[in-house]
Amino acid sequence: MARRPLVAGNWKMNGRKSSVGELVKIIAGVRKLGEVDLMVCPPATLIMSFAAAARGSRVAIGGQDCFPLPAGAFTGDISAEMLKDAGAEAVIVGHSERRQYHGETDAAVRAKALAARRAGLVPIVCVGEIRADRDAGRACEVVGGELDGSLPETGAQVIVAYEPIWAIGTGMTPTAGDVGAMHEFIRESLTSRYGEAGQDVRILYGGSVKPDNAKELLTVANVDGALVGGASLNATDFLAIASVYS
Ligand code: PGA
Repeated sequence: MARRPLVAGNWKMNGRKSSVGELVKIIAGVRKLGEVDLMVCPPATLIMSFAAAARGSRVAIGGQDCFPLPAGAFTGDISAEMLKDAGAEAVIVGHSERRQYHGETDAAVRAKALAARRAGLVPIVCVGEIRADRDAGRACEVVGGELDGSLPETGAQVIVAYEPIWAIGTGMTPTAGDVGAMHEFIRESLTSRYGEAGQDVRILYGGSVKPDNAKELLTVANVDGALVGGASLNATDFLAIASVYS
């Protein structure tokens, strides 16, 4: 089963107009890479200008969150349709920072994933356990519960990102063996949910992916790319991670 790898950068709450320079470097660098898709998810304020800069290149632009409804009286929120209109092709939903700081439940994440699809965006649904759950041997149980609650019930047009919460922004990562076991577990969950189409769903690993650990983590079976936070803010590091697939 050929799943083309995807390396997506989650810029979180970072980036100003001038940051387009970093994107331009990524666009230039991707020409030297092999079979890999690249995506940059900047803050919503930059989606329109980034999408314009990336048009016609191999770099897609994504959002970091969306509201479930298409429009209405929801001050401060941004709909999937608006992201699409601004030039996004995908949107991250259910990132652990959204779940933690904004109290997003699995049901809310699923509603956002469905909204993304309605708008013609690919949802990138994030799941991951806290350290105590891994230490207690409950990592698969927790991630399985999040998948059950957050993924759309039908239709396999989705990307899953496995991001152990304790590995995000900490410099700590699971072993390649633990990543492989979790991604295999997620694959099984996807095929039991979506049938054969579950084989086509890309499962990204996220959490302290850096140029020096990318090869070890991203060449594991059923790891179809990465969701990169900190290291995606620097074009050289981001491209070095993606070059694992060249
Ligand atoms: P990190 O973030 O690469 O900085 O650990 C990953 C993420 O939160 O998507």
